[in-house]
Amino acid sequence: MSEARPNINLPLGREPTDDIWEAMFTQRAIRYWLDKPVPRELLAKVVAAASKAPSGSNLQPWIFVVIDDDEKRQEIGKALRSIFDSAEPLQQLIASGEQSDDKSERLMLKGARAFFTQLEKAPAMIIPCLYGLSSPTQDPTSLLAGSSIYLAVQNLLLAARALGLGTVMTTAHGMLDADLRRILNIPDEATPVALIPIGYPQANFGPTTRKGPDEILRWNAW
Ligand SMILES: Cc1cc2nc3c(=O)[nH]c(=O)nc-3n(C[C@H](O)[C@H](O)[C@H](O)COP(=O)(O)O)c2cc1C
Repeated sequence: MSEARPNINLPLGREPTDDIWEAMFTQRAIRYWLDKPVPRELLAKVVAAASKAPSGSNLQPWIFVVIDDDEKRQEIGKALRSIFDSAEPLQQLIASGEQSDDKSERLMLKGARAFFTQLEKAPAMIIPCLYGLSSPTQDPTSLLAGSSIYLAVQNLLLAARALGLGTVMTTAHGMLDADLRRILNIPDEATPVALIPIGYPQANFGPTTRKGPDEILRWNAW
């Protein structure tokens, strides 16, 4: 693999890709989707990719609840909108970000507003849940518990990118915990860890802005 590879030929666009480097380097938060259902076969494929992730003692402590039912999507979207409408600090944060001089921040916050106010526009949503957790911890609220499921979540995001599907990793499930449990019959023993809308993107994949290795890589010592 040439060192320069990730920096060249990274197309903007919405096409699927089988190239793992292209998938990793162009996977970005998509918050706008086409009004087009995603075949269940593809939704099942991204969950299959998630299932290949490592987990503590290979216990695979997860269930992925996939929502493609119109009524349930509407109900979840409505619940998030109503929480957003009464969350003044969050509204202020988004409103001030939308005025930022930094274009990418402006776009991100505009997208975040769309996410909070019209989530039902996503043709499907996936709620990964910790379930049957016992390694490396039994505490589902701990960072260690996250280590046994967020690798699966990342697999899911990359598989979606490979299939030409847009996703955005969010932790908005936290605001909606009671609603999600009620609407989706999630039992007390399960713990939702993310809320991931998914659909055919109405925005391009493309290179992302990230800190470079110069800034984050230390050899042999901090
Ligand atoms: C832990 C976590 C929580 C996030 N929560 C939200 C959220 O609540 N709403 C949202 O619109 N995006 C959310 N995001 C998406 C991030 O804003 C996004 O991944 C980041 O800005 C990078 O965007 P990019 O890949 O398009 O460059 C979250 C991402 C992570 C990893």
